[in-house]
Amino acid sequence: MTAAPFNDRARVDAYDKVRGVTQYAADIQFPRMLYAMTVPSRVAKGRMTAIVTDAAMQVPGVVRILTPADFPPPPEPTGEDGPPPPPPTLEMEIAYRGQPIALVLAETLEAAVQGAEAIRQRFADAPFSSVIDSEGSKREPVEDWVAGNAEQAMAGAVTTIEASYESPTQHHNPIELLTTTAVWADGRLTIYECSQGVNVTKGSVAAALRLDPAIVDVKSAYIGGGFGQKGLAQRQTALVAQAAILTGRPVKLVSPRGQIFHVATYRPNSRHKVQIGVDVNGKMIAANYHAEHEQSRTGFFSPAEYHESPIRMYGIENYRGTAANIRIDRQAPGYMRAPHPQASCFAFESAVDELAHKLGRDPVAFRIENDTQIDHKTGNPLSSRFLNECLIEGARRFGWERRSAMPGSMKADDGTQIGWGVAAGCYPSMMPPAIATLRINANGSTRFATSGHEMGQGIRTAIAAILVEGLDISTDKLEVVIGDTTAAPQHMTAGSWGTAGAIPATAKAVERMRAAVAELLEGRQIAGNLHQQLASVRRPFLQVEVSEVGPGQNADAIAALRQGGFVVAGPEYPDFTTMSYIAHFVEVRIEPRTRRIRMPRVVSIADCGRVISPRTAESQIRGGVVWAFSAALREATEIDPRFGGYLNNDLADYVVAVNADIGEIDVGFVDKPDLLANSVGLKGLGEVAMVGASAAIANAVFHATGKRLRELPIRIEHLL
Ligand code: MOS
Repeated sequence: MTAAPFNDRARVDAYDKVRGVTQYAADIQFPRMLYAMTVPSRVAKGRMTAIVTDAAMQVPGVVRILTPADFPPPPEPTGEDGPPPPPPTLEMEIAYRGQPIALVLAETLEAAVQGAEAIRQRFADAPFSSVIDSEGSKREPVEDWVAGNAEQAMAGAVTTIEASYESPTQHHNPIELLTTTAVWADGRLTIYECSQGVNVTKGSVAAALRLDPAIVDVKSAYIGGGFGQKGLAQRQTALVAQAAILTGRPVKLVSPRGQIFHVATYRPNSRHKVQIGVDVNGKMIAANYHAEHEQSRTGFFSPAEYHESPIRMYGIENYRGTAANIRIDRQAPGYMRAPHPQASCFAFESAVDELAHKLGRDPVAFRIENDTQIDHKTGNPLSSRFLNECLIEGARRFGWERRSAMPGSMKADDGTQIGWGVAAGCYPSMMPPAIATLRINANGSTRFATSGHEMGQGIRTAIAAILVEGLDISTDKLEVVIGDTTAAPQHMTAGSWGTAGAIPATAKAVERMRAAVAELLEGRQIAGNLHQQLASVRRPFLQVEVSEVGPGQNADAIAALRQGGFVVAGPEYPDFTTMSYIAHFVEVRIEPRTRRIRMPRVVSIADCGRVISPRTAESQIRGGVVWAFSAALREATEIDPRFGGYLNNDLADYVVAVNADIGEIDVGFVDKPDLLANSVGLKGLGEVAMVGASAAIANAVFHATGKRLRELPIRIEHLL
């Protein structure tokens, strides 16, 4: 392939989406379908002693109620190397408030809801801990991330800074609710679900219900926002599948948002203690960083990963990263866009800003001078890093040279305080293996099937860009089949590796197809596009299959992919480390009387290697910046320590950013291919988009007011 920039293209699915034609999982209907509703536990911990269903069964339309007695006991753990255990089904033991204890099936949604409300639960309660500081919480250290000798280097530092930061419990609320429809027919179970990992769903349902995975198919054609909530197995899936098997009827569950708060992944409350030291030349030479977060009693979402970005931000040769889980009685936290770096780069990039201020240095110049091309964790080179280019271009577009350095020195005529802040971020660039089949038909249609999930980020648009730039095919009958276990082996799509998985395989399929066409036509020039050329030699179709692996992977990865395994390469590849980078420049304005904080403009410049789909890539960054604003200034989940549940578990009370809060978001890309990372030269983008932006906002608030706020969300009351 050439390295020329890709053209801007409209989303291939835009027209269908705006007309409401696109079918999401909850849109699917079947004859004789039953509606399901889960019943949440009203206690946070204990053992259920009775579940009384008589009144619920009297509700007209209620057909059946599933209780723990309807499920097999949990499977034996498979050991360290095996897949994670499936989520529990229904159990008598209660581990957190909101845990599903029963599933009501009815002829209508209304009857299912009424039935669910009529169920009575009795418990032998047990004491519980619901927040990080509760009595009974248990601290559990995890492995350290270390480079060099931070203790020794810190002792030799001429200036140091030390501060503690905190990010609250936050919940993601994709517009699409968690939803599963299951159909049991002719000895096969088919699941329609909004899933970022249809094969994960397949394996986990099979394990939970003791089914042969070979009889389970899972389809997730479109997702209305994933963000990690839909990556691992979902809490409701096996319940709905068992209901379909036991009743012999299709069953649909659309989980209510209030319940999703209690069962799905969320961003845990985390605390970050950061110490950074610089030498006489103003170079950052040492960092000590301790991170800890709230965790369920059995959850595995590791706090060690808070270090994955800070350790690769600057050329700090001596880094000591420690971390701990604090185990309490809530559901497990987990993946939520930029899962660890959102919180850790808020902390770290705030600390870097504090350090620059203490040194009297411009925070852009200070970052530029602390550039590196080395991953000090491994000692290997970074395969590409253009953070300085991001900082320089961002500063130029933003007009950074017009900033007056003194905090509180920029004001509008009406007294509005103006703050200009900067921060940067990075995120691992990873790559799963992929298998792809491309079939071009003489009748004008094309079918391309591979591993991937369309969460709205635009993976189909990126795939289509590669296909139509490389092959003369018509686009009106181009079908891209992804998120379907029956179409191609499926790998989970998360961690910003969707494009890195699908696009190099697509590019390889294009190359293979061009070779196949050349061979078929034996070098003759035939008029028309590929479909017409096939027709003129009376070939009904031409099909190629290719596979692609990440750097350092071999055929074992392809075999593992076929088995439904989790086989991601990177960001530490055998000879190098690959990270994506971004720089954010933010203006905040603080209204003088109400102290309301708004963000009229942002410039964000990213280094994600080669940009495949400019329009959807820009959209990713806008979304990330909006969420970073929301995370910095609005969002916090309120936990009730008396009962263990969430108080603001709906979109009325869980406050998020709105249009009026944010003005222009100007997005740019370095757009330089990283050809070590993969054949196409792209790096991940979805998560790095958000990383560092909350710090840029907090740094701008400091610049506007002189107040350093180290706890999110920053709200009006903190500026009074
Ligand atoms: Mo992402 S939080 O790994 O889908």
